[in-house]
Amino acid sequence: MASWPENPRLINTRIPRLDGMAKASGKAKYPSDIHPQGMLFGTILYSPYANATIVSIDTSAAEKLPGVKAVHVITGAGKKVQYHGDDIAAVAAETEEQARDAARAIKVEYEILPHVVTEAQSMAPGAPEIVKGGNTRKARAITRGKPDEAMKTADVTIEATYSLPVITHVCLETHGLTAKWESEDKLVAWASTQSVRTVAGELAGKFNVPTSNVTVLTEVMGGGFGSKFGADVWGLVAAELSQKAGGRPVRMFLDRIQEHLAAGNRPSASGHVVLGATKDGKIVSLIAETYGTGGLGGGSQFPFPYIYEVPNSSRAHTEVFVNAGKVRAMRAPGHPQGCSIMEAAMDDLADKLGIDPLEFRLKNLPDDQKPDLKPVYEAEVKMGADLIGWSNRKPRGTNGKGPIKRGLGMALHTWGGRGVAGNQVSCTISPDGSVEVKSATQDIGTGARTVLAIIAAEVLGLEVTDIHSNIGNSTFPPGQGSGGSTTTPSMSPPTYQAAIKARDALFAKLAPTLGATPEDLSLAGGKLLVKGEVKMTWKDACRKLGMMPISVIGEFDQTLASQGVGGCQFADVSVDIETGVVRINKIVAIQDTGLVIDKQTWESQVYGGVIGGLNYGLFEERVMDPTTGVMLNPDMEMYKIAGASDIPEIIVRCYEPDDQKKRGVIGVGEPPTVSTAAAIANAVTNAIGVRVAEWPMSPRNVL
Ligand code: MOS
Repeated sequence: MASWPENPRLINTRIPRLDGMAKASGKAKYPSDIHPQGMLFGTILYSPYANATIVSIDTSAAEKLPGVKAVHVITGAGKKVQYHGDDIAAVAAETEEQARDAARAIKVEYEILPHVVTEAQSMAPGAPEIVKGGNTRKARAITRGKPDEAMKTADVTIEATYSLPVITHVCLETHGLTAKWESEDKLVAWASTQSVRTVAGELAGKFNVPTSNVTVLTEVMGGGFGSKFGADVWGLVAAELSQKAGGRPVRMFLDRIQEHLAAGNRPSASGHVVLGATKDGKIVSLIAETYGTGGLGGGSQFPFPYIYEVPNSSRAHTEVFVNAGKVRAMRAPGHPQGCSIMEAAMDDLADKLGIDPLEFRLKNLPDDQKPDLKPVYEAEVKMGADLIGWSNRKPRGTNGKGPIKRGLGMALHTWGGRGVAGNQVSCTISPDGSVEVKSATQDIGTGARTVLAIIAAEVLGLEVTDIHSNIGNSTFPPGQGSGGSTTTPSMSPPTYQAAIKARDALFAKLAPTLGATPEDLSLAGGKLLVKGEVKMTWKDACRKLGMMPISVIGEFDQTLASQGVGGCQFADVSVDIETGVVRINKIVAIQDTGLVIDKQTWESQVYGGVIGGLNYGLFEERVMDPTTGVMLNPDMEMYKIAGASDIPEIIVRCYEPDDQKKRGVIGVGEPPTVSTAAAIANAVTNAIGVRVAEWPMSPRNVL
């Protein structure tokens, strides 16, 4: 059983990310920046209709246009396109303009079919049936205890419907890759992906070549959030077009509009909730009917009830089908929805009971969970309450006579963040003293490259900048996909083990030449020590390896990682009740996550999570036009996300008593994005005195 160092020198300190300067200065080359020699530009022709059969498709005119090198039909005659943005065909040409012109020159004859694009439209009586068997599908109801009988014993109940919209993925670097056949059976792809290995596997499968012949490279990437795990239709098509164009590289990145339409979304969620408690504030029962839409593919389920101990409950969920883009995992899938609905109901019930909503929550935490997060939440809530000034909170709707109302709200959340077995990291110490750690993981933007370097430097007594941290190449030892907040907990243990193995191998080689035993040797400050005395520099020690580097593989070790975190967030908002505009004054985010590897990138993730959650709470929504079936706001002008001036003061605190650190490494990417929208809605409600039950907290919903 390995354990992390008791008194680390680098781990859990503030270390700027190794690629930070390259990214901030614009030097970093993102996959979409890579333009290999001879590259062609690819573009996708996508459906302007929400539902249609392709009657005929004629690419001959497009093929004859200047610069056009390859055309590929994705959805042929007789097949259906089922949402605005669905792929039809692709073109590769010498310039981007030529590719776009050619896509437009493809003649498509459509038989337009009736569509439904919103939940209301889909569920309306007499709506056209877009899925065999009906536009809705009921999930099996989940019941615990005797909810109906128990509800009768409640002293106080609330009944309300809370709704959250569909929001789309908005990666700053759109989805895509550049594919190049180096020879008949060797493919290279520069992909903007959260998993170089998944993309390599899909490309290899599609073209029937060994996975080892496919190299997927992701040096850095511009955002994924759960939507960039695969090669996608357009990625496979890029390789197809490259093949057709005699191996010339083809760059295929979605345009801004298709990014909104086709790259996935967080499904909507609506919950009709009856929640009852005794007058001393113990929940007795919850009866919920929920629904949501995940386009045609489904996927709108979310965890509910959320977090709290509910002895009796029933929950029925209905999947609603619409002609719109598909669901894709988006940061802590399901949790923001389940959390927002539950936390709104909790707040409303606390208000009706006349109990401080904070106390009401603590009273109803389960105490039979593994890990036991109850003491964590209790400590975190206290920290957060102090930082936001909870004691100044006024009861709902008693915020003065003027048009600007100020209010406070809060919410709790949870997430897993586990480490995944099987991942490997290699560590190579070369005779010139250079050190490389290497794995086929990638950095989604959270600092994975830096995490690996910190751990190796810690073990080898070197500086972080002495370590070459090589990731983002599918041919390296198998590394974790950047999802589920699993990267740091999956990659830290094998890095640690690899560095220890490499160090021990070095000691075993050098000890005899120094008349010492390996146990006598240690490393610190770039020096080799024998029995605590400096003997030589790291470089001189490595030179003794002669011609042979040390190269070892570290494996995942479950004793160095853990899972299961809790956190809480508080929001301080001002609402102008004449305009409906909500200003966030402050957000407080308290989060536990076991052992932190880099405090600085850790904090950055929490800030990022909060800002993502703030967008969900205040701004984001996919707006569909029921008449034409198109998305009305598929660009970054009309799809509002926060600008710099929308970001309030955000106070981030890590809850990390010693027993937290001893839990090992747990991922933190997703948890901080879960409860922000809930805390904001509760603050808005506290400010104006009435529940705003529909997100986002935009003027349309607030007024
Ligand atoms: Mo995440 S939703 O696994 O990026």
